[in-house]
Amino acid sequence: MTTSLDYQPGFRNHVATEALPGALPEGQNSPQRCPYDLYAEQLSGSAFTAPRPHNLRSWLYRIRPSVVQSAYRPLEAGRVATAPPARPAADPNQMRWDPAPLPEAPTDFIDGLLTVAVNGDAAAQTGCGVHVYAFNRDMTERFFYDADGELLIVPQLGTLRLRTELGELEVGSGEIAVIPRGIKFQVRLAGGSDGSRETQARGYVCENYGSPLELPGLGPIGANGLANPRDFLTPVAAFEDRQGEFELVAKFSGRFWSTRLDHSPLDVVAWHGNYAPYKYDLACFNTINSVSFDHPDPSIFTVLTSPSDTAGTANVDFVIFPPRWMVAEGTFRPPYFHRNLMSEFMGLIHGEYDAKAEGFVPGGASLHNCMSPHGPDADTFEKASKAKLEPQYQGNTLAFMFESRYVFHPTEAALAADFRQHDYVDVWSTLRAHFDPNTP
Ligand SMILES: [Fe+2]
Repeated sequence: MTTSLDYQPGFRNHVATEALPGALPEGQNSPQRCPYDLYAEQLSGSAFTAPRPHNLRSWLYRIRPSVVQSAYRPLEAGRVATAPPARPAADPNQMRWDPAPLPEAPTDFIDGLLTVAVNGDAAAQTGCGVHVYAFNRDMTERFFYDADGELLIVPQLGTLRLRTELGELEVGSGEIAVIPRGIKFQVRLAGGSDGSRETQARGYVCENYGSPLELPGLGPIGANGLANPRDFLTPVAAFEDRQGEFELVAKFSGRFWSTRLDHSPLDVVAWHGNYAPYKYDLACFNTINSVSFDHPDPSIFTVLTSPSDTAGTANVDFVIFPPRWMVAEGTFRPPYFHRNLMSEFMGLIHGEYDAKAEGFVPGGASLHNCMSPHGPDADTFEKASKAKLEPQYQGNTLAFMFESRYVFHPTEAALAADFRQHDYVDVWSTLRAHFDPNTP
């Protein structure tokens, strides 16, 4: 494969990139004969008629068109589930899990996926699936695409090499990658420049069935702040001309399907357009917070949002809690106690989360569904209520949230997992009443 980890900056820019000089046709998308006798193929990520700001498509110039494949045959979906769930299992209980165990047997990214919860309805293009992955083996002759949603990948352990039709992305812990719906790719463990190799990886995936993730509006913040468009990186074209026996796995309508190819599908020599995978380093996030008192709501930490058809009420938001200064005066500084309309799945990439003294560890997860109360645990409340309020840098932390308007249905596998913490609700059991009507 022509390999290059060069990237082009910008969020959803119209990109033109070629792995061989002159491979991109000039002046038109589909000439009678393409340079190098490549085939032209359009990949549309939106309806043809979507308004221009939401119109997503790329033209791919490839060695063979994607239709050169065998018939799709059903494949066992393993531990991957899709909304709507066969047996709805929404539950108001607050839930928490330890990290999913790393596999001992050889396991690739696809086989290492485990669905924790789903919401909405993939066929109706609403909601999302929340998965965790843990794997130790490269995909070599195997490729994947997801027709049910785009994949927001959040590595927690290990660095991934994402080899996609449109080029390669390397993404490690503290970064994210988004693979749009339909784009073919494979996942390998990254190798170091010193020849060392990662041996295992673990992380989270939000499979967004709804409208593609976009940058949130900034309102009164102004033109700058939060995630800046130039920090999103799109790969340059790279291809391999490889023949042999290959499998393409498709996730379509909640099921896995397998088709055989006699060539690698990573055969796009050049492409142009605005529908492409991208990565983002969460350290680039320009965090906004209070410099007087009280908390802004956590929406201030939104990196990407998938809007629903109700303004301001997201299909799913991707929100982070990054390292930051805490300076609010006269304020209970950890996240407040709350109940809310939106349902929240949280994960921890590294460090500690400021609402929990223990039990929420990197690679772990929690779920707080619509209107289920949650907030700091008893130890955190006691400590924060008495803490001296001086400027404090919270540096050792990187948590995130997939927050959705739709209630999450945990899967049976997640409910029964031996790494689930069945006593989670007890973290609040020692919060006692301090009320004294005679002491204002
Ligand atoms: Fe919350």
